[in-house]
Amino acid sequence: MYMNAIVIYSTYKSNTEKVAVAIADAAKCKAVKLTENFTSETLPLDGIDVVFLGTGIRGGEPYIELQNYLKSADLCEGKRFFLFMTWAGGGASNKLTYEVVKKALEAKGQRLEPDVFICLGQTFGFTHRGHPNDGDIAEAKKWVTEKLGVNT
Ligand SMILES: Cc1cc2nc3c(=O)[nH]c(=O)nc-3n(C[C@H](O)[C@H](O)[C@H](O)COP(=O)(O)O)c2cc1C
Repeated sequence: MYMNAIVIYSTYKSNTEKVAVAIADAAKCKAVKLTENFTSETLPLDGIDVVFLGTGIRGGEPYIELQNYLKSADLCEGKRFFLFMTWAGGGASNKLTYEVVKKALEAKGQRLEPDVFICLGQTFGFTHRGHPNDGDIAEAKKWVTEKLGVNT
């Protein structure tokens, strides 16, 4: 079945952007980078079946742009929401970030799918240098095709 998807993401150092672009490519949809001022007027979700939300992790939280967007946006009904993240592998910060997004969606009467995509993203200096790498990108695309049941 063909589904209309969208990728909505926030990124500071473009790690999450690399994954967002790969996911959009696999889902044959557009990827929208959140800025401070995105609203449901500038980013309407009518006609969308699947929303992939992406963020880096900062102190165990999703980026503020994503949090603000989820607070302000009209998310409509009948969509499936998936989360993807890039991180430095820090403890339970992936779980904490998932919970923040889940609660933000629940406050809007929506639910977050339990199945996330996550991969390493390079940080300052040499930590996780080169990530997301080709392997990470291939995994991200595979994840999307499993979710959507489409072939790339
Ligand atoms: C200030 C700051 C805080 C961070 N906090 C976390 C964290 O709590 N857990 C983690 O695993 N990574 C953490 N990271 C690493 C980023 O999540 C990671 O580098 C991510 O890939 C950045 O994504 P971006 O390039 O899309 O902005 C932090 C990085 C910075 C700069």
